[in-house]
Amino acid sequence: MCVDKITIKSNIKNYNVVFESEDNFLKELSNLENSIFIVDENVYNLHKGGCLDVLPKERLIILKISEDKKTIQTVCELYEMIMKFAPRKNLNLISIGGGITQDVTGFVASTLYRGVNWIFVPTTLLAQVDSCIGAKTSLNFNHYKNLVGTFYPPSEIHIYPEFLRTLSRGDFYSGVGEMAKLHIMNGENDTKAFIEDLPLIDKCDFDVLLKRTRNCLNIKKSYIENDEFDTGRRNLLNYGHCFGHAIESSTDFGISHGQAVVLGMILANKYAKQIGILSAENEKFVREKVLEPILVAQIPEIDVEKTIKAMGQDKKNLGKGLALVMLKDNYELVKITDLTEKNAGVILKSYMSSNCQNPCRTDVFGGGGLLEYIKLFLFSGVRYA
Ligand SMILES: NC(=O)c1ccc[n+]([C@@H]2O[C@H](COP(=O)([O-])OP(=O)(O)OC[C@H]3O[C@@H](n4cnc5c(N)ncnc54)[C@H](O)[C@@H]3O)[C@@H](O)[C@H]2O)c1
Ligand SMILES: [Zn+2]
Repeated sequence: MCVDKITIKSNIKNYNVVFESEDNFLKELSNLENSIFIVDENVYNLHKGGCLDVLPKERLIILKISEDKKTIQTVCELYEMIMKFAPRKNLNLISIGGGITQDVTGFVASTLYRGVNWIFVPTTLLAQVDSCIGAKTSLNFNHYKNLVGTFYPPSEIHIYPEFLRTLSRGDFYSGVGEMAKLHIMNGENDTKAFIEDLPLIDKCDFDVLLKRTRNCLNIKKSYIENDEFDTGRRNLLNYGHCFGHAIESSTDFGISHGQAVVLGMILANKYAKQIGILSAENEKFVREKVLEPILVAQIPEIDVEKTIKAMGQDKKNLGKGLALVMLKDNYELVKITDLTEKNAGVILKSYMSSNCQNPCRTDVFGGGGLLEYIKLFLFSGVRYA
């Protein structure tokens, strides 16, 4: 039988992303010796009467997740629970959940016994199209997001689209945001193909989602395989993330990661237009046809100064200025490291005020929403690492 998979080459160890059309793989994983399952509580509750029924209850850890639990303390609690099962070094750790479950359990897998076999089953669209490959594990520390981490890929990843049926619309569109980013990064043809598929993506059409997921993973693969440790070209994957991460931090995660990235791409494109590397026509096309239609989140109140301060604390800043990845007219990306706080503030303020007059859509096919308030507060000490 031909297995539908993508192989990712890694300096640590090559690994496969396997596309599963049926749930038998879960039974096979359950039969592995020395296995322990760690499952996101929400995912378990939604699927325990279905495909997750086969998981062995005596080797199951249910994990309550949230961004503020992506910490070393949760990792220590997991070490304790895992050791109660008296595992050996040849343990198989299998985690089932979204990006947070991946980050925390990946860190556990990479550090316990200096590394145990780890298998990941991503259950959110964001984790299926983006985070599952690339080998990064991350923990937050105080207000610093993703400050602590390791490079440690799972030995295998199983993508089973059925999990997506239970995803909330907000979490689904967080994944669509990352999907849009990767398609834009791959050029005009992919951007147009994504626009064409958007109505079916919105309907969660599995054929279209799988086609787009494969494309996303192949695009990300092309960036990570030659720069796994993120010292050069992989940095460009940060398109949308420079403003995006800062907005996540400054709003205390009042917006999902992928939706913040959509806002981040809009803002980066505005600056690219301002400095003359992206034409007004292309900026408008990408914003109106790709980004605004998928911005479905209620945008929380954004404090401009706090956001700029968070940008200043991004670990991607290596120079004196702020780092920003921008799109150019030929759909290539460029990273600058000398964006000034003043210019970043101008872009953010002007976008926010223009959107108070021109509400962006909250639903792909109708509805209205807007970036509601801008208030300038004193710096609050929120940091982004
Ligand atoms: N390691 C990496 O390379 C990498 C890359 C990108 C993002 N991330 C991290 O990933 C996190 C975001 O990931 P995410 O968007 O997957 O979020 P998540 O893991 O928080 O999941 C989002 C929500 O969906 C729920 N959920 C998960 N699967 C579900 C399903 N099938 N049905 C119903 N509900 C489900 C979760 O319980 C949670 O409430 C962030 O912490 C981000 O920093 C990591
Ligand atoms: Zn991201």
